[in-house]
Amino acid sequence: MALIQADGAKPYSCGNHLISGMAKLAGVIGDPIGHSLSPAMHGYWLARHGIDAAYVPLAIKPQHFESVFRELPKLGFCGVNITIPYKELVMPLLDEVEPEAEQIGAVNTVIFKDNGKILGANTDGFGFRVAMSEAMPRWEKQVKTALILGAGGATHAIVHELQRAKINTIYVANRTFEKAEAIAQRFGKKVTALPWEEQDAQHREVDLLVNTTSLGMLHELPLEIDVRNLKPSAMVMDAVYNPLETDLLRKARQNGHLTVSGLGMLIHQGRAAFQRWFGIDPKVDEAIKVILASRLS
Ligand code: ATR
Repeated sequence: MALIQADGAKPYSCGNHLISGMAKLAGVIGDPIGHSLSPAMHGYWLARHGIDAAYVPLAIKPQHFESVFRELPKLGFCGVNITIPYKELVMPLLDEVEPEAEQIGAVNTVIFKDNGKILGANTDGFGFRVAMSEAMPRWEKQVKTALILGAGGATHAIVHELQRAKINTIYVANRTFEKAEAIAQRFGKKVTALPWEEQDAQHREVDLLVNTTSLGMLHELPLEIDVRNLKPSAMVMDAVYNPLETDLLRKARQNGHLTVSGLGMLIHQGRAAFQRWFGIDPKVDEAIKVILASRLS
């Protein structure tokens, strides 16, 4: 597969990224995994940086997750990304957890250390922060109140990040109210849980609206919310990246809001994981965005 190089350097081909018998292995473990862009993204960076390693998709059913996970270091894996539905379930299988992942309560990156220990990290919050900063430098200065739709692993990481950024009021609205309540309890009194049907009432107040539910994703149900009551300065971010511009983002853009797609969060959380495994902060250039976007609807 020929890859485009945006910086004008000689084009190269991912097919020429030949690995040796000593190659390191990394991958993404989840169920399902077929939609994941991570193999393309990490494969591109490995080729770009000439690293002797491969990144593979691991579609593992729940009944096999623990046994497969425990075998990965023996197979030569230096680490894996963890995705739905294992981000919280993996935690008891770890020897060490980075403080940020501990605070978030979920792990999206695992490092199999040379000393045999298994370390868990969470790079989702970093991905969110950098993606937001790319869209609007010092975005956190504009946000006093945020509303997050959804209460899964991504919400945990984003709430943690919003608290780091000293956002005063954070609403979490979720279909299963108890999960929103659990997040409010975990993160303290600046976080308020809302029943899903009551989120519209906050629209006039919020400076940042974030969707972390799967609604609006390709082949999923649409996210049916009306953005017309948002204040003109409100930013809208969708953690969904397929399609690149979701209905939510299109409506918000047409309404004059600054919008942020989920692609940046995906790329930057991946970048932080890559650095932990391979010791290199991979280049986030236009080419990676073009390649990933071309794989989306
Ligand atoms: P992630 O780890 O990426 O955040 P997740 O843990 O699977 O993913 O969370 C998915 C989110 O989408 C949840 O908040 C889920 O709501 P529930 O907690 O009620 O399951 C939300 N979601 C999925 N389908 C939904 C639907 N049809 N309507 C409303 N919310 C939905």
